[in-house]
Amino acid sequence: MQEELRKLAKARNALVIAHNYQRAEVQEAADFTGDSLELSRTAAKTDADIILFCGVEFMAETAHILSPDKKVLLADINAGCPMADMITSYDLRKLKEEHPGALVVAYVNTSAAVKAETDICCTSANAATVVSNIPADREIIFVPDRNLAMYVEKATGRELIKWDGFCPTHEYITAEVILKAKKEHPEALVIAHPECLPDVQDMADSLQSTSGMIRFARESEARSFIIATEMGLIHRLQKENPGKEFISPTKKAICPNMKLTTLQKAFDTLFEERYEIRVDEDIRRRALAAVEAMVSYS
Ligand code: 13P
Ligand code: SF4
Repeated sequence: MQEELRKLAKARNALVIAHNYQRAEVQEAADFTGDSLELSRTAAKTDADIILFCGVEFMAETAHILSPDKKVLLADINAGCPMADMITSYDLRKLKEEHPGALVVAYVNTSAAVKAETDICCTSANAATVVSNIPADREIIFVPDRNLAMYVEKATGRELIKWDGFCPTHEYITAEVILKAKKEHPEALVIAHPECLPDVQDMADSLQSTSGMIRFARESEARSFIIATEMGLIHRLQKENPGKEFISPTKKAICPNMKLTTLQKAFDTLFEERYEIRVDEDIRRRALAAVEAMVSYS
């Protein structure tokens, strides 16, 4: 099936990109696997006619915002992100009215309509850099992830006006399960995603985006790591570091939306060129500057 998908992609001049949380067999078939920032950059610079996105809706929308001339397909049309659904453009407009003059930073895990109300987008890989570059006298609204916002506050010393959104998958990774994993693996380092709860963040040896975790594990002298994020990441970690051990602290660290995509669905979507994701042109134009700024920050 992987071979069939690759052959079909070649015949259609399509680029298959997969998020680090995708099923192992989907990651293996993709041309490129990465974190949200890397996937946006890859989608922005490809020469392919079609981008087959194995991930969730906001990622495909972001690809279309950056590359409106490409046909962007989402491998499974039902793959959404509950965190992105926790704030609407109406909510954000109201928040802006309450804080006139504030600059809006939105996590990329938002709808295109929310991005259209945003000054600058960020991913977990560059959220702290984006915020630290905002003039000190500007108020900052940060949406929708309260946990990422608290991480950014600690990393930058800035106070943010936060929205109360969160990732249900990451909130299953509690301090309790980390403590248990640490007891069972006292030698292991804890690497956590900034979508984790603040007490889990405090227990981490390092806080990283998904691809940041891969770099950290590769460069570290340690042999054993507790991975506080969605467990799909373990596939790449284990493959790229065969001599090291990666432990998921809970079986609940699974994003059901990311797991909707199967190889068969990815193949069928490309074969039928179905599930095209297009952002309304007015919204796309209003969201573009914020997304382009995000892609330019390392
Ligand atoms: P990153 O891969 O950018 O760290 O994001 C994690 C995530 O939850 C994507 O939905
Ligand atoms: Fe959304 Fe969380 Fe799934 Fe990422 S892991 S897509 S933030 S629900």
